[in-house]
Amino acid sequence: MKNFKIIIGVFLLFGLFSFIEIQDDIWKAPAESKKIKNPVANSSESIAKGKKLFRSRCAVCHGTKGLGDGPGGKALDPKPESLITDLVQNQTDGEIFWKVTNGRNDMIKWGPILSEKQRWDLVNYMRTLKE
Ligand code: HEC
Repeated sequence: MKNFKIIIGVFLLFGLFSFIEIQDDIWKAPAESKKIKNPVANSSESIAKGKKLFRSRCAVCHGTKGLGDGPGGKALDPKPESLITDLVQNQTDGEIFWKVTNGRNDMIKWGPILSEKQRWDLVNYMRTLKE
């Protein structure tokens, strides 16, 4: 049964490719961003500022509670992430800061738009969105 082996082989290859594609979809910040230290203390003042910014700049896509359900995100591919999952919350402040700064696909590159302080306030606020 030579054909049978070929068919199984083709199936295995397809499986491998779709696995690689899923892996590809996970957005990884570069390793060096892990070590960026958050210079802004996680104070109630910083969190309040971050919350205000989040509501005005991010909620349209990510949703008011960061669940990824904002009206502006519905038609996007890939969709805006839920920011409260482990996938996001297990990243370091530096990695999240890097992603907000640099953007990808429909996620806006906020570096040129928001000050460094504002981006850290946002990171501090997003830390309060945990499940
Ligand atoms: C126009 C819609 C839009 C707006 C506005 C937006 N985002 Fe996003 N965001 C996205 C999309 C889409 C992704 C997923 C991008 C991808 O995976 O390629 C994303 C991803 C992210 C991620 C990465 C999550 C992960 O994979 O680890 C963070 C953090 C984030 N956004 C924070 C913010 C913050 C903070 C703001 C406001 C300053 C904001 N976003 C505004 C669409 C948006």
